[in-house]
Amino acid sequence: MAKAKTAKAAPGADRPGEVDIQVRPGYRRRGLGARLLAAAAEGLRADGRSSVIAQVLAGTPAVPFLESHGFECVLTLRGMLLRLDDVPAERVARLLAAAPAGYRLARWRGVVPDEHADALARAKHAMADFAEYEGTPWDAHRVREMAEIVAKRGDDLYTVAALSGGVIAGFTEVVVPAGCAGRAAQYDTAVLPEHRGRRLGIWVKAAMLRWLGEECPGVREIETDNSGDNAHMLAVNEELGFRLERESLEYQAAVSDLPASGR
Ligand SMILES: CC(C)(COP(=O)(O)OP(=O)(O)OC[C@H]1O[C@@H](n2cnc3c(N)ncnc32)[C@H](O)[C@@H]1OP(=O)(O)O)[C@@H](O)C(=O)NCCC(=O)NCCS
Repeated sequence: MAKAKTAKAAPGADRPGEVDIQVRPGYRRRGLGARLLAAAAEGLRADGRSSVIAQVLAGTPAVPFLESHGFECVLTLRGMLLRLDDVPAERVARLLAAAPAGYRLARWRGVVPDEHADALARAKHAMADFAEYEGTPWDAHRVREMAEIVAKRGDDLYTVAALSGGVIAGFTEVVVPAGCAGRAAQYDTAVLPEHRGRRLGIWVKAAMLRWLGEECPGVREIETDNSGDNAHMLAVNEELGFRLERESLEYQAAVSDLPASGR
């Protein structure tokens, strides 16, 4: 009838716990959600967590539920979808032809070639603008490890990078599902701060679209989540043709503000 789960975060109580509460529609507004939250709070306290997050869809009962329990919205995520049939080949060709001066493209499938591994790790630091990446330093080992995890699942990681000398000034990653069909997932895209404002982001993404079209014609859609306050990334994706599918919100509360379980 109802369930709550608290995900055990990685070791280190400094990281927030995560809560996901589900009450079947026929049993709602009877206080079950609140009781489950109180029980989850007990687990979070026992685990030494000081804060908790919950991911919910905008416009659903979860929003007033969480707000009535002292949660605050800390992040808006826009789920965007690009239908490749809706992207005219001329658009991709035009964006690719507008190559920013002084850069060249490189691309690889799977684990990064050794010659680019350190440069990619440095470029990944450019993602640290966004809170979710804070505190997790990138190095060549971690970059390779992430690609190996994708490969172990049977999926393919495609990377396109813009190089300036030996430096990766910007890059974009897409994960293509096993069998090269259906919906691919946009992973990281970032441009180093000192290379921003030169349309490198849209250039590498256009190169990715052309490559996927050649390599994986079975891929029909690409999905991505963008932070609602990342205006530049949203503008790039809208120009490519991504459309808003759903909006999800990340809520956070201090565990000390959560209700105590009355047991
Ligand atoms: C969100 C959810 C868990 C709430 O469960 P619930 O058992 O209905 O919640 P409660 O009865 O304990 O509600 C507690 C308070 O939350 C608020 N609330 C809950 N649902 C609400 C709604 N649809 N509209 C307005 N306020 C609401 C009210 O303040 C309510 O108190 P009240 O009934 O005295 O006014 C339930 O709607 C659900 O399962 N939704 C789908 C799953 C989901 O989105 N989960 C993510 C949440 S972490």
